[in-house]
Amino acid sequence: MTHRDFATRAIDHPVRGAPATGDVVPPIHLSTAFEMDDPGAPGQGYKYSRFGNPTRDTLEATLAGLEGADHALALSSGMAAISTVCFSTLSPGDHVVAFESLFGGTKALFDDLLAPMDVDVSYVDATDPSNVAAAATADTELVWAESPTNPLLRLCDIEAIAAIADEYDARFAVDNTFNTPYVQRPLELGADVVVYSTTKFLNGHSDATGGAVVTDHETWMEHARFVGAKAFGAVMAPFDCYLVQRGLKTLPLRMDQHQANAQAVAEFLADHSEIEHVYYPGLESHPQHDLANEQMDGYGGVVSFEVAGDAAVAKAFLEELDVFNLAVSLGGVESLVEHTASMSAGNLSAEEREWAGISESLVRAPIGVEDVDDLLDDLATALEKL
Ligand SMILES: Cc1ncc(COP(=O)(O)O)c(C=O)c1O
Repeated sequence: MTHRDFATRAIDHPVRGAPATGDVVPPIHLSTAFEMDDPGAPGQGYKYSRFGNPTRDTLEATLAGLEGADHALALSSGMAAISTVCFSTLSPGDHVVAFESLFGGTKALFDDLLAPMDVDVSYVDATDPSNVAAAATADTELVWAESPTNPLLRLCDIEAIAAIADEYDARFAVDNTFNTPYVQRPLELGADVVVYSTTKFLNGHSDATGGAVVTDHETWMEHARFVGAKAFGAVMAPFDCYLVQRGLKTLPLRMDQHQANAQAVAEFLADHSEIEHVYYPGLESHPQHDLANEQMDGYGGVVSFEVAGDAAVAKAFLEELDVFNLAVSLGGVESLVEHTASMSAGNLSAEEREWAGISESLVRAPIGVEDVDDLLDDLATALEKL
């Protein structure tokens, strides 16, 4: 990695000024097959796009550089990245320790795919690292956490958990989707693997589904590349690689604005009588505000909150919003809002939602980069109508 600053690395790319054309922007290589010099000898190092593609290589080099890591793998979705890590690491009989607060798709993968394959998962409250230590066993191969978690914005002490995972010789993977490497770099804190849904903040424009795995472990990454790219065939398409590469150029600008807006929204909501609780690590009232200051370079762009009242009141409030879009997902330039119990957690039973801490009045609001006064006015007007 060069010693350039993050914002410079987000814009630079390995094929800048390519000898033939001098491209300032990396080209999109759509070819699925590449001409060979002779049978068995790939001409320019490429053979077949599922195995390797120049547009994907360029994005992977940029993603690794932003993380300060040696290797990155770009895949077709965040779930493809998570599945790749699991299936590259785990075998029947293995044990996983997972933060109990985590993205529903990851939990479904653990419960519905891994458990029937005789992979045992212990869910713990990882806000206290001693719970991770207490659950780990000689069979623990993988420790899994998000920080902050989706949708409750809980944090875990990445450095402390990395030390526990090391003791058990387990791989520690962190889903850093909410933060991006601009805000938090788990590998620097001792994690082994970082995964992303690039669909969110990394691309940032809500127009390409993708995922990434980033690590310094060369041999493990070779295996993960075999699993995710060659065997699953879950590679990111060249055009989507181009979109993510383009999105990355404004990542620092966007994250600064997402975070400034999110802080203002969180403070506004925390003071409002119609709001019962606000979850945002940037608030001093967040139980892990100090940890956020230690391991994050900001507080992220997602705010969750509970409206005073039941599901009907929360839904009535969402219907009154105009600037915010009623939609799942997060991380795009536009502010979104969802009633979590009936939208991203709508496939869970009431008991499962209760277990996950998702109340009927919980609203998740990924904050965009619009003018903050318009966002605050929109919220104030909708709350007045309740
Ligand atoms: C934290 C987190 N990880 C992973 C994913 C899955 O990403 P994708 O939808 O790109 O598969 C999501 C999606 O919402 C997410 O919020």
